[in-house]
Amino acid sequence: MSETTNGPGGVPLDDAGAEAEESRAPHRVIGTPPPAQARTLLGEAEGNEPPAPPRELPAEPDDPVTAKRAERIVAVCFTLSMLASIGFIAAYVGLPVHSVINTAHSNLWLGVSMAVAFGGLGVGATIWVRQLMPHVELTEARKPLASAAQDRAEFEQTFTEGAEASGFVKRPLIRRTLIGASLLVGIAPLVTLRDMGPLPGTSLRHTVWRKGMRLLVYGPNTPLRPADFASPGQMITVVPDGYQDNLDALAKATTIIIKFAPGELQAPTNLNWTVNDIVAYSKICTHVGCPVALYEHTTHHILCPCHQSTFDATRGAAVVFGPAARPLPQLPIGTDAQGYLIATSDYTVPVGPSFWERG
Ligand code: FES
Repeated sequence: MSETTNGPGGVPLDDAGAEAEESRAPHRVIGTPPPAQARTLLGEAEGNEPPAPPRELPAEPDDPVTAKRAERIVAVCFTLSMLASIGFIAAYVGLPVHSVINTAHSNLWLGVSMAVAFGGLGVGATIWVRQLMPHVELTEARKPLASAAQDRAEFEQTFTEGAEASGFVKRPLIRRTLIGASLLVGIAPLVTLRDMGPLPGTSLRHTVWRKGMRLLVYGPNTPLRPADFASPGQMITVVPDGYQDNLDALAKATTIIIKFAPGELQAPTNLNWTVNDIVAYSKICTHVGCPVALYEHTTHHILCPCHQSTFDATRGAAVVFGPAARPLPQLPIGTDAQGYLIATSDYTVPVGPSFWERG
């Protein structure tokens, strides 16, 4: 009994015709997929839903000449990528790196080859998608999310049966103690909110600096005359007299003083708060409170090592770089009857990180 096979156009073929047809079909080679066939993108509609309109991928691009050219360009891009990857390996293995110059050259070639490798892949893939792949719009119908009425009724029945079986209604002792336990287990953690207090009040707005309080050099804790600090370009850390061992106070009150040459200090620095071109700023970074420990005397920049906020010491410690949002506050200073540097008041603005309550 002979089988009947359909040929092109659905014309039935006998056995001999089918064999001849099969022998003419191209053999597939590994890595060479069969040519694209027109095919439906979405499956058949299910149930009683109306069938989706037929949407088919075009078998081939409209313009075979353009497609062939695009194919060659894509192949060139991918080949370039391959060569660049091989070049990367060769550069890594072959180039010496035992000096700064050699390392710089090695890094250059590694970077260039890797950029070409990824760039070739990316450009090739983009051209492939845009020039050779079919441009079709796909839409998938979504089913309603709500459960069917029967499912909801079954769930309600199961829930009611479960509630009855649990004895929640029949056993009031268990029910009441369970409700009490559930409420208390939710309330109990609330008492830990007390640990968030007491509220800081105005303490964040003030430090221990007061009028007449001497500036002590941090470490030896000695007072300082302007004449002792006469070299422009220096920065030293000072602390309030009487609080040199009080770490809580120093966390806000630690201050830096910087000596400038005449005429270097500019607005918005408050010159009335300086002495002999010595200016005092808070040492607490206005970003998140690290100590601003570095001073670059050629640029007059104060640097915070934590996140690289940079402040211009000649212009009121204005922020010139980094995440800090406010200048370092300036401490008003003067001299007392013995000629020592003193604060003439507390800081007039809050020191330290910018909190929302500081406006
Ligand atoms: S704490 Fe100074 S920059 Fe972040």
